[in-house]
Amino acid sequence: MEKKITVINGDGIGPEVTAQSIKVLQAVANTYGHQFSYDYALMGADAIDKTGSPLPKETVDSCLQSDAILFGAIGDPRYDNDPSAKVRPEQGLLQLRKELQLFANIRPVTSHAALQHLSPLKNKHLEGVDFIIFRELTGGIYFGKKELSEDGDTASDTCTYQRFEIERVAQQAFHYAQKRRKKLTLVDKANVLESSRLWRKVVQAMAPIYPDVTVDYMFVDNAAMQIILYPSQFDVVLTENMFGDILSDEASVLSGSLGLLPSASVGNHSALFEPIHGSYPQAAGKDIANPLGSILSTAMLLDHLGLQKEAHQVREAVNWTLLSGFVSKDIDPVNSYSTSAIGDLVAGYVTRQGDQVYKTAHQQVNQSTII
Ligand code: IPM
Ligand code: MN
Repeated sequence: MEKKITVINGDGIGPEVTAQSIKVLQAVANTYGHQFSYDYALMGADAIDKTGSPLPKETVDSCLQSDAILFGAIGDPRYDNDPSAKVRPEQGLLQLRKELQLFANIRPVTSHAALQHLSPLKNKHLEGVDFIIFRELTGGIYFGKKELSEDGDTASDTCTYQRFEIERVAQQAFHYAQKRRKKLTLVDKANVLESSRLWRKVVQAMAPIYPDVTVDYMFVDNAAMQIILYPSQFDVVLTENMFGDILSDEASVLSGSLGLLPSASVGNHSALFEPIHGSYPQAAGKDIANPLGSILSTAMLLDHLGLQKEAHQVREAVNWTLLSGFVSKDIDPVNSYSTSAIGDLVAGYVTRQGDQVYKTAHQQVNQSTII
């Protein structure tokens, strides 16, 4: 199979984690006889520095012509504490989501047995945690009308949703639920917000089309608590843009580290894959960041290209590194592996198809370093 992938390294740790994913993609290509070509494009603070724009036109063009987009991270402290900055790195990502109509953001949350001790939650709460957050990505308060009064003392952001925007993401969420444990939870604030009441109405009207899916409704404040208290109750969580942003960071705590969570942003034509973590500027260039969020996003990319067997192999490789203790500093501050070492181990496992000789050799090295 020949596929064209646009690679956007972005800011902070973006380039180094993405480099590990490219290693893994190359291992997949060599092992399974595919050809992936990579077109590197700019976005974020990196793009502002080089071109003045957070999203140069060439980047959008490249994305439109590729089969998938692999993205690293966005954000730079130079802008974070400057609320009057006219251009901001994040605008690049938001514009790209809008231009490519990536309306559904899919964020799977699982708890790895090997990492349960890292979660601040008691283990009993983590049994059976396996859910997907479906976050609407191109509407709501992120994209509504924004105003700042002339005297600079009054500001507003408007949360607007249209029926079709809710329907198209809800449809995808229902389809996922049908393939999983057949439960969909709509998270909203319908006791207060008009836009949330529209979400409820639309989802209630769609529910009879999917009679095999049980639908329940939860207010976002309660959902924030339930995610911590009783996370295994969730299968597919459907929610609007900003609630999804906040709840997915919260949910990452269940997995043991924010550095582990992947995501896919899909529309009708394009699809972009990125770890949910940010640019982590303090770690940039130090080869200490966790590359697994990016590598697991790459597994989602492979699924999207129809390469399920390959995606499975990558996930198996990742599980093996976690179980063997080949983990980065965020997971084990004492016996940690570098970003690039973990990339090499995952890529090596894919190339060797997880054969026993490879596994044993590396595990022995690990044992001897720990002792
Ligand atoms: C995310 C990020 C982005 C968002 C930022 C960087 C604009 O936090 O992808 O979750 O808020 O959507
Ligand atoms: Mn976020």
